[in-house]
Amino acid sequence: MRFTLNGAPADVQAHPMKRLLDVLREECALTGTKEGCGEGECGACTVLINGVPVCSCLVPFAQAEGTTVLTIEGLGDTHPLQRCFMDEVGAQCGICTPGMIMAAYVLQPDASLDDIRIGLAGNLCRCTGYSAIYRAVLAARAVTLAAQ
Ligand code: FES
Ligand code: FES
Repeated sequence: MRFTLNGAPADVQAHPMKRLLDVLREECALTGTKEGCGEGECGACTVLINGVPVCSCLVPFAQAEGTTVLTIEGLGDTHPLQRCFMDEVGAQCGICTPGMIMAAYVLQPDASLDDIRIGLAGNLCRCTGYSAIYRAVLAARAVTLAAQ
């Protein structure tokens, strides 16, 4: 199956009905994408397909053919969202964090707190109580806006 993965061409052999989540973690060795519920409820497995956040636990690998897939590894560890989640302690156990960051990545740079709450509504966190996550995303927005 050919697709673009984190900006590079990929040609990966796996069963077409294997979950994209598992292909990323097992065949592609990209273990940043996490499994929480495994049934589309928690958002921990969020990646972008053609720029749209999806739950990779619900996506058969066949649907990735010809698409552009972006995972948490594709953002790089110097992205403002990565830095701000660390600075604001937006992660505790960290299982939800890659999915939170990928969902936040597609928000507009001028997103308000309400926009962020809505944008992350499909991503569950059992640890932080969400305030630190929202602070981290707001801080990253500020960094991004300042750089424009
Ligand atoms: S692991 Fe995919 S939505 Fe929870
Ligand atoms: S930091 Fe543990 S689930 Fe969010």
